[in-house]
Formats: sequence, structure tokens, C-alpha cells
Amino acid sequence: MDKIKILFVCSRNKWRSLTAEKICEKVSGYSVRSAGTEKAARIRVTEGLVGWADWIFVMEKKHSDRLRSKFPESLEGKKLICLQIPDNYQYMEPELVELLQAKLGSYMEMPIDVINFMQRVLESEVMDSLSEAIEYDSMDFTEVNSAFARSAAALGPVFGNVLDAGTGTARIPIALCAIRPQWKLTCIDLSANMLKVAAQNVESADARSQISLELIDAKEMPYPDNYFDMVISNSIIHHLPDPVTFLQEVRRVLKPQGAIFVRDLFRPETLEIRDNLVKLYAGDCNAHQQQLFSDSLQAAFTLDEIETIVQNAGLAGLRIYESSDRHWTAERAWCETL
Ligand SMILES: C[S@@+](CC[C@H](N)C(=O)[O-])C[C@H]1O[C@@H](n2cnc3c(N)ncnc32)[C@H](O)[C@@H]1O
Repeated sequence: MDKIKILFVCSRNKWRSLTAEKICEKVSGYSVRSAGTEKAARIRVTEGLVGWADWIFVMEKKHSDRLRSKFPESLEGKKLICLQIPDNYQYMEPELVELLQAKLGSYMEMPIDVINFMQRVLESEVMDSLSEAIEYDSMDFTEVNSAFARSAAALGPVFGNVLDAGTGTARIPIALCAIRPQWKLTCIDLSANMLKVAAQNVESADARSQISLELIDAKEMPYPDNYFDMVISNSIIHHLPDPVTFLQEVRRVLKPQGAIFVRDLFRPETLEIRDNLVKLYAGDCNAHQQQLFSDSLQAAFTLDEIETIVQNAGLAGLRIYESSDRHWTAERAWCETL
């Protein structure tokens, strides 16, 4: 059976229609595109696009008025529906996603997985209790931590004043000390208990001369501007309700030539993929640890969302990419010549 072709239209094709396209691209039986009516639109609506579509969903009446006046002939025989969604939302904002799902649900069938994967469900920001810290430390992340340390070391300067934001139990900075003996690592976390376990790990690894542990909020750091040569961070972003503030702080405390290596999980596209990842990577863990991993995947951002967040934080020159079947990475190498 031929797919029904749907065109979503808003003003600039940046937030509303692009979100609608993203939501519907996984729904089988439909082929979807999006465009904007304004000159400055990311993709501007054309006669060709209108002619291509079977159904056109616009966000406001002004968009249907514009289409009717510009493309009256191409619109003949098309279903033109106004969703009445005002320009109050950012790309993939949960409220917008919910609104679109509710409104589009009257016209097309949305599988439950397509609806669920969109929802970012926040975890608590700080891993606060001592039992949580001990349990976290007992999970074996040696392989991913070593890979993180090797990649971070390769991007940074040989001598460096390096910040690790959301250091947890300091396993990554400890691995880094062996590779970069000239680095001084300032390792911050907002959980006193994580830092308690970190202090024991640092002591056992005999790494006290290179690592200092500090109880500090990464969203509001006490360090001066242009202070660090490199900022590294693993798995903090999915804990933060709004990571833009954190990344703005990273930008402030980092020297202009500074290196960045930030990594976290990304939110899988369906619940089935999420559950398969839990089986694959936490199959040997206990039920609570599996739940923690599943919750972290659900609290994570998608790659698209991360790109927008990094842009909104004003961090320039970063390469952002999917670095495994469950991680994204944002990185920038140290630049000696700046
Ligand atoms: C999943 S753990 C990752 C720990 C470590 N980076 C690792 O890879 O093992 C996330 C850590 O971020 C910390 N965290 C969350 N929000 C924070 C904030 N605003 N400032 C500093 N640390 C924070 C949590 O307490 C937790 O220790």
C-alpha cells in the first residue's frame, strides 16, 4: 500500500513542524516532511512540497492562509488541517511533543513505542546516599572508563589543569593519572557520599598528588574565567534538568584554546531498544542496577537535543557524534596555536 505523504508546516521550520516530523518519521504507513512559510525558514515551503503531500498539517491559521493564497492550485484535493499550536515551544520540548501526539492521534495511529520514546523522564540530579554511591562504584565500568580516559588524554595538552565535572567515585580521573602523569585534575561532584567513596579510591590508587576532590555544583562553579586547559565529563548531562547552564559554565571556566571531552548516554528511540540495551550491558547486574541503567537511558537526551543544547550554550568548534550504540560524545582538541 502507498504511504500517506504528510507535510508539517510552521513559520521557520525550526521548532514545531520539525518536532512533528521527528515524532512521525518512525510511524509506519506515512512518509513525512516539514517546512516553514517564512523567508528565513530552515526549509521553505514550495509549490513542489505542497504538490507532494497528501495531508498538510499547519500549526496556526496564518499558515493555512499563506498556503491558500500562494499555492491555491496545488492545494486542490489535499487535506489541510490546522493543529492550532502557538509558537511557544522549542524543538522537542516535552510539552510540545505531548501536544502534537494528542492532536495528531485524532488523524493517525501512533504506536505506543513511538509515543513513549519521546518522553524524557528525569532522574534525581544528585546520587546522594552512601548506599547509592557504593552501589554505583561496585558496577564494573572499567572498559568504558578506560576508553573514555584514552580518548580524553589524546585530545588534551601534555601538561594540563583539567576539570572533571560530576566525577562520581573518580574512576575516570584515576585511569587518566596513569596516562597523563603531568595533569592536575580538579574533580567535582555535588554528592558528598560519591566524593567519600572517591576519596577512598584515590587513596588506594595512590593518586592524591594529582587529584583534588571538591564538593561543588557544576552549574555554578567558583573558578575564575579561562582557568582550565581541559574539561572532561562523563554521564552528568542526563542528570540535569537543563544542561545549558552547566555547559555555559564549562565555556566560562575553559581557556579559549581549551579541550573538551563530554560523553553521556543517549535516549533510545523505542522502549524495545532500551530494554535490549539493558539486557546486553547490564544482564549480569542485579534488578536494581538494571533499573538504574534503564532509568538513565530514559533520562538521557537524543543526539538532536544535545546539538541544540550545545549550540544554546554557545560552545563552538565541537564535534558531536554517536560514539557507541548508547553514547554520544562532544569533543574539541586542545589548540596550542590560539
Ligand atoms: C552517573 S554519575 C557519573 C560519575 C562519573 N563521571 C563516572 O563516569 O563514573 C553522575 C554524577 O554526576 C553528579 N552530579 C549530578 N549533578 C551534578 C551537579 N550539578 N554538579 C556536580 N555533580 C553533579 C552525580 O552526583 C553523580 O556522581
